[in-house]
Amino acid sequence: MLNDKYGRTFKTLRVSLTNACNLFCNYCTNQPVTEKTVYPESNILTTKEYIKIIKSLHHKLNLETVRLTGGEPLLYKDIVNLIEGIREIGIKKVKLTTNAVFLKEKAVSLKNAGITNINVSLDSIDPESFFIISKRRNLKKILEGIDHALAIGLPVKLNTVVMKGMNADQILPLLDFARERRISIRFLEVMKMGHLHNSYKEIYFSQKEILEKIAERHQFIPMDREHSATATYWITDKKQVFGIIANESHPFCRDCNRLRLDSYGNIYGCLSNDDGISIKDHSDDSLKLEYSLKQALSQKQEVQFAGSVMSMRYIGG
Ligand code: GTP
Ligand code: 5AD
Repeated sequence: MLNDKYGRTFKTLRVSLTNACNLFCNYCTNQPVTEKTVYPESNILTTKEYIKIIKSLHHKLNLETVRLTGGEPLLYKDIVNLIEGIREIGIKKVKLTTNAVFLKEKAVSLKNAGITNINVSLDSIDPESFFIISKRRNLKKILEGIDHALAIGLPVKLNTVVMKGMNADQILPLLDFARERRISIRFLEVMKMGHLHNSYKEIYFSQKEILEKIAERHQFIPMDREHSATATYWITDKKQVFGIIANESHPFCRDCNRLRLDSYGNIYGCLSNDDGISIKDHSDDSLKLEYSLKQALSQKQEVQFAGSVMSMRYIGG
């Protein structure tokens, strides 16, 4: 059994389907907005290759969850066949983290293919601040996508990266938005990834500040944290549950159970790691794969999240 001195193993595999994204959120990129970046790269893994690798990892790790991420995973053209293939392997939970730009048109086929949960990254419901953060004007489409997914019975959660001077004033409106739809929302502290690695403090808005903002309007008490969860949750006097993912102020590395696979077939034991371990050519060699998994496990941080100069979109959030 693969585990380390903290008893950590890999039960959740996060699979990045592409580095490309159709939004240009300021925490992910500071590059000029170009059309080119919205198309997936041509040399990424095929569905057949993803399935082969995920199957081998499942045999070794008995995975509980595969979460599809990006970049923007809905840009991966063959996502429906990929989801079906992952379910056929016997993995019970196949989840998706998306910006929801294409959710409205893809929700039914995602559901039919067997997706079990969707997390939507939504940093603002105000069109102007949404545009300032993402450089795109597709908020309406995103909100329709969320409502459509809910209407056909897909469980949706929201992720909001909170940034000082940008969208901290959206915390209360987003909380209302989530309550009206009876869905859970998590507020994220900005993480020291990519171009923000050394400058994140300029926009950093802490868990403490998020709670103070919510306390202006609501009373709430903490809930017990689930083992290996990214978020800690609170419940308000109106019985609304909200969470905070506090990578900086309350890191949760000690019981992290996540392994990452990028779109070129490299695995990473930690989001903070820049050097992936390629398993593309030996995922069916049991001994070599086990060696690579041990290497990945040794990449995990002990306690504190270290961050990386690599943007989250290269490693799957
Ligand atoms: P569920 O709890 O299953 O809904 O998903 P999740 O929170 O694991 O996944 P999601 O893709 O919604 O990720 C939300 C945020 O959690 C990401 O933006 C990261 O900030 C953070 N996160 C996810 N995995 C890790 C991890 O392994 N390490 C660290 N430090 N942060 C992570
Ligand atoms: N800090 C915090 N969250 C981030 N995400 C991407 N980059 C960062 C960052 N630097 C979020 C996305 C998505 C999730 C997978 O990660 O908004 O919700």
